[in-house]
Amino acid sequence: MPDLSIQLGPLKLAVPSLAASGTFGYGGEYGAVVDLSRVGAVITKSLSVKPREGNPPPRIWETPAGMLNAIGLENCGLESFIAHRLPELARLPTNVLVNVVGENIDDYATVCARLAEEGAVAGFEINISCPNVREGCRFSSAPNDCSRLIKTLRPLTKKLLMVKLSPNIADIGELARAAVEGGADALSLINTVLGMAVDIKARRPRLANITGGLSGPCIRPIAVRCVYQAAKACPGTPVVGIGGIRTVSDALEFFIAGACAVQVGTTNYFDPDFLNRFPDELEAWLADEKLASIRDLVGTLKV
Ligand SMILES: Cc1cc2nc3c(=O)[nH]c(=O)nc-3n(C[C@H](O)[C@H](O)[C@H](O)COP(=O)(O)O)c2cc1C
Repeated sequence: MPDLSIQLGPLKLAVPSLAASGTFGYGGEYGAVVDLSRVGAVITKSLSVKPREGNPPPRIWETPAGMLNAIGLENCGLESFIAHRLPELARLPTNVLVNVVGENIDDYATVCARLAEEGAVAGFEINISCPNVREGCRFSSAPNDCSRLIKTLRPLTKKLLMVKLSPNIADIGELARAAVEGGADALSLINTVLGMAVDIKARRPRLANITGGLSGPCIRPIAVRCVYQAAKACPGTPVVGIGGIRTVSDALEFFIAGACAVQVGTTNYFDPDFLNRFPDELEAWLADEKLASIRDLVGTLKV
């Protein structure tokens, strides 16, 4: 059978699939419908030092082939996470990555330092790309700020440090390079695409936050393009593709464009079984192609 394992910095994943942050609760909630032992890793909802209430409703709007959300990083905060979430996460039969957000460098550093020695935490995804809060993209607007942040976090942990990038910038290659220069082990992309929808009768925005993040199949071509550009800008750095993946064929586009693993987000809402089917379907496709490993497919785009 083809080998599905991949290496993300210091972390080996048996299957190149991850459940995307914010679409999978804190990580354990889907345990009844998804066999987590067959998912490479789950990523928690974004975690901040202090609890956050998020944005007022309405915070979700369905679009053609996708959805807009402006949840606004609602989460229980670091201390409650450690007391009430971590014990359950420690029992999951998969790797747990904590997605970290902050308003400044100290906030990010506090979360990473506090969780660095927790056995239940396999690594961190550093979210510098939330379009739904005021300071959400502060560290992805200027490459210098991004590398300064990652340089501060790097000495705090030997565990996986993966930086989640935003598509809402002019040059994603430049941002990717800045994260790697700062010491990132891996990159994940993309976060949601900034969007907006209008109720024409009321002449009001559909979301109370006015704008929101677009996700789902409608963003996939943008995501594939970003993965291609980031992988090209940072040869040798593992890239994890995210954006509108709902079939193995969708995921294959990302592998060929340069991703070594993929995250599944919005699909968890309408087809949670996809993560269960993923390893067998991927294995079957690789076997058909006579490929011994998923690694033989990564970055094989012919241009
Ligand atoms: C409702 C919702 C909440 C999200 N919350 C977070 C979050 O807290 N942190 C984060 O880094 N990304 C968050 N995301 C972004 C996803 O992790 C992912 O990057 C994005 O949805 C694109 O992937 P998809 O098209 O497969 O959903 C959220 C997405 C959705 C739809």
